[in-house]
Amino acid sequence: MKQLSVNHLLGIKYITKGDIDLIFETADHFKEVINRPIKKVPSLRDVTIANLFFENSTRTRLSFELAEKRLSADVVNFSAASSSVKKGETLVDTVNNILSMKVDLVVMRHPNPGAGIFLSKNVKASIVNAGDGAHEHPTQALLDAYSIREKLGTVAGKKVVIVGDILHSRVALSNIFALQKLGADVKVCGPLTLIPKHIEHLGVHVEPDLDQALAWCDVANMLRVQNERMEISYFPSTREYVQQFGLTLERLQKLDKSITVMHPGPINRGVEITSDVADSDQAIILNQVENGVAIRMAVLYLLASKIKNYD
Ligand code: CP
Repeated sequence: MKQLSVNHLLGIKYITKGDIDLIFETADHFKEVINRPIKKVPSLRDVTIANLFFENSTRTRLSFELAEKRLSADVVNFSAASSSVKKGETLVDTVNNILSMKVDLVVMRHPNPGAGIFLSKNVKASIVNAGDGAHEHPTQALLDAYSIREKLGTVAGKKVVIVGDILHSRVALSNIFALQKLGADVKVCGPLTLIPKHIEHLGVHVEPDLDQALAWCDVANMLRVQNERMEISYFPSTREYVQQFGLTLERLQKLDKSITVMHPGPINRGVEITSDVADSDQAIILNQVENGVAIRMAVLYLLASKIKNYD
């Protein structure tokens, strides 16, 4: 059986193109499974997974939980807000206590960049990063690239623009790594105050004009402005942001082609994207969410295979 080159999924930076291809191939199988009348397989019935969420989530949390249940894993869920973390327990102590209950795999969302990497070096379990601060969100990037492959046939050679708050976005960084490993051409677009300095060093071109970016691309991935990660204002007003960087039907209709529109969610309707675009046939936003379950099933299955030595 083909295996991943890693024992944890901490970021797209740390995996190979071969790993991504293997995850996609495995996700193709699980996508077929979740569209059957009985959406469940016994693949992980001897595996216990803890979902540790130290930050809010709707899609990622439910998607991981469904992926685990579709694979017949035993699942425990942990929310920081109702845990003993509130009493001062450290992250390593918390996780080691959970692992003593014979947990095999930990899925963690945490507000601090690098929290998953730290944990992987300090506890004996396979760690899946479900988003760590503004660092990486690897399963989101995998499901995004998988959705492009599904819609356009391939990722290689496609032109993808990521639009919005690149500075505070873990989705942007993971997407840049994944898309480049798969051979796509990536640009970023947004207010220059929300574009990281030296991003060109990642091989990414900065296009400050949204209309130019749209005219260039095959795919536009629209990001939310991450107000929760800002202590100051990075642009004059929401009205001006919408005028310059909001994706509207009028903007799409000016193009001489039909581009694919993506969004990782949660959407701020009327800010980075209008409702008529978000709900249009060009948008694959709900396909992304659907594919997230198959991608997470693939990641968990492949990591568990390494722990349990399935053949
Ligand atoms: N896309 C994403 O990570 O959404 P949630 O924050 O709802 O998990």
